[in-house]
Amino acid sequence: MSAPPVVAGASARERAPRQLSSHVFALSQIVPIIILAVVMFYEVTAHLLLETKTHPLLFATETIVFGIIGPAVTWATLNWVAREIRQRERAEGEADALNAIMQEMHHRIKNNLQTVADLLSLEMSRNPRPEVHESLRDSITRIKSIAASHEMLSVESVGVTDITELSRRVVETTRRSMVRSDQRIAVRVQGPDVYLGSKQATAFAIVLNELVANAIEHGFRERATGNIEIELDWDGSDVWMRVQDDGAGLPPGFDLKTSRGLGLQIARTLVEKDLRGRLALTRNNEGTTAWVLFQRGAALSNKE
Ligand SMILES: Nc1ncnc2c1ncn2[C@@H]1O[C@H](COP(=O)(O)OP(=O)(O)OP(=O)(O)O)[C@@H](O)[C@H]1O
Ligand SMILES: [Mg+2]
Repeated sequence: MSAPPVVAGASARERAPRQLSSHVFALSQIVPIIILAVVMFYEVTAHLLLETKTHPLLFATETIVFGIIGPAVTWATLNWVAREIRQRERAEGEADALNAIMQEMHHRIKNNLQTVADLLSLEMSRNPRPEVHESLRDSITRIKSIAASHEMLSVESVGVTDITELSRRVVETTRRSMVRSDQRIAVRVQGPDVYLGSKQATAFAIVLNELVANAIEHGFRERATGNIEIELDWDGSDVWMRVQDDGAGLPPGFDLKTSRGLGLQIARTLVEKDLRGRLALTRNNEGTTAWVLFQRGAALSNKE
């Protein structure tokens, strides 16, 4: 029988020091008793033992107001404060637990994807046919780019991840698997931190992998050196990315809408469906520029 999953947050909470609400609850028991004791001490010493001249009605009123109502109001107030604090602590605890489960889930998905990629690599190393080799290599880089987004999400605490850092990891994986040993291809990623939720981040990683893979595969097929520049930016809502290479450029008459390749079809579908944005490819002076423009999903944390 397999062991139950370890949820990191749970053990941390078990070891957590006594919570603030417990302290306030304890105070709500002690403080009223102290007030009652002080009032009774005062009343007994001042009015009964020292026999200060006081009207019995005033003595009774003082005893009731300070000795009974005072402690009761104090008890009720402290109890209310303690309950409010406990509710907040509970909500935070639940959020922590959910977060830990999500992280664990992303971690496992990443591990499983890594295993699939390793199995395909094994298959690739045993298969000498170049077309099979190429097709397996493409699948492996696609899987690895999805794994990279899950890897980053597995260490983020709010279910969002920085796609600029994700881009660095994705392009490095793509570069390593696609650049030939006789080539020197420099890939540079620049831009501010841009946080996206898991669905958008995963789609983004796959799209970027396709664009960089194309630049290496088609732009630099006949070349020994080259540069790929990836630039990201956003204005608080719209995110845009430019992937520019100084390679061979798009073939004459290229049209993204009628292009038959699988890679750009995947990229276009993901940009339009998951990112709800647009993808465009243009020929630049030296090579090819791909543009991706989309809106950052609404249900994101305030990590910005
Ligand atoms: N950066 C680029 N430089 C030069 N040509 C490109 C570039 N990006 C795309 N292309 C052209 O667009 C075509 C379609 O690309 P796409 O990624 O859809 O398919 P593919 O790369 O040929 O095959 P697949 O990605 O399915 O392995 C390519 O065959 C190539 O001619
Ligand atoms: Mg391609």
